[in-house]
Amino acid sequence: MEFYVTAGPGTESALRDELSELGFRSVRLNRGGIPFFGEWEDGWRACLETRLGQRVMVVMGRFPARDLQQLYDGARELPWLDVITPKHTFAVAAYAHESCGENPNFVALKVKDAIVDSMREQLGQRSSVSKEDPDLRVFVYWAREKATVYLDLSGEPLFKRGYRQAGGEAPIKETLAAAVLRMSGWDRKTPLVDPMCGSGTLVIEAALWAANIAPGLWRQRFGFERWANFGEDEAKRLAVLRGQLRGQGHGQPPRITGFDLDDAVLATAQENARAAGLRLSLRKMPLRELQADGTRRMLVANPPYGVRLDADNQLYQELCAAVQRLHGWRVALIVGNPRAIAGIHLRPEAEYPLKNGSIDCRLVIYEVP
Ligand SMILES: C[S@@+](CC[C@H](N)C(=O)[O-])C[C@H]1O[C@@H](n2cnc3c(N)ncnc32)[C@H](O)[C@@H]1O
Repeated sequence: MEFYVTAGPGTESALRDELSELGFRSVRLNRGGIPFFGEWEDGWRACLETRLGQRVMVVMGRFPARDLQQLYDGARELPWLDVITPKHTFAVAAYAHESCGENPNFVALKVKDAIVDSMREQLGQRSSVSKEDPDLRVFVYWAREKATVYLDLSGEPLFKRGYRQAGGEAPIKETLAAAVLRMSGWDRKTPLVDPMCGSGTLVIEAALWAANIAPGLWRQRFGFERWANFGEDEAKRLAVLRGQLRGQGHGQPPRITGFDLDDAVLATAQENARAAGLRLSLRKMPLRELQADGTRRMLVANPPYGVRLDADNQLYQELCAAVQRLHGWRVALIVGNPRAIAGIHLRPEAEYPLKNGSIDCRLVIYEVP
């Protein structure tokens, strides 16, 4: 079977490297996501193990479609009863390339009609649509007279790990945090510091990665567990897989520290870390007090995006001053506002464009001499 793991913009290469390291077959670089081949269990494992992937999908069918009628006909032929019964709910989303000349909502509606008509014809009954919490999520990609129909194994997007109790001010998504950590060149051994840790996303994801703890282990249920082809046997096999992954976590990660100015947000970070089974050092300290102490460390941070103008300008000055005195440290900053790093007079070792939700960001990496 062909799977497709969707990636945040700019994280494709990092996701390809991750999936290759995890041992998936025929991993290939693609814009927007990474395909691989495998069996059902590989798809389940991808849901449990990918830190960067946003969704894991399986290709249900691919067929030529020059117009909406051909799209409808092709979708109607697919074996829907393998995955849903009339008791299941479903939802369809679509992407239609401009060459198709159709509105994506209309394309989704057409495929929804194909599914219900196919079920009615075979059973005399049909599934209902649920936009909020469907058992089965279907995604249609239609471009250049070819349609691909995917089923989304993840259900809820994978950044919802299940350990986060609450967010702070502007938390970054867990999947983006994991991508930033991988792209930062952190070796998972050097002590790591986030001096503006907020609700702790970067430090928690760092600790899970360093200890080789699969990020999906907290999720109660993935999408595929709600399908008609997931019975008792499959549930047993999934339990075995979860057990194997639990056994892979190893030992103590290096020292990982989070600081922040805000007591309330630090309490949230503590709660999130505890829920993830981690004991991290999370303490109140203003950025201006951060000093090098002779140990090489990795700094990773996601400074505010500059909404509170005066407060953030002062913080940016403190950040730039701090970075330049951290001799021997490696520094990775995910910035949504170029002002945040304007005062750093060092040549970045690398820069990558990324997106944090709808905000254009850059991951900027320095080796401080
Ligand atoms: C964009 S948020 C970080 C969000 C975090 N990555 C998360 O996922 O929750 C920036 C954080 O910087 C903190 N902050 C602002 N000024 C600070 C200062 N002078 N020293 C330390 N932390 C500060 C804020 O309290 C806030 O939690």
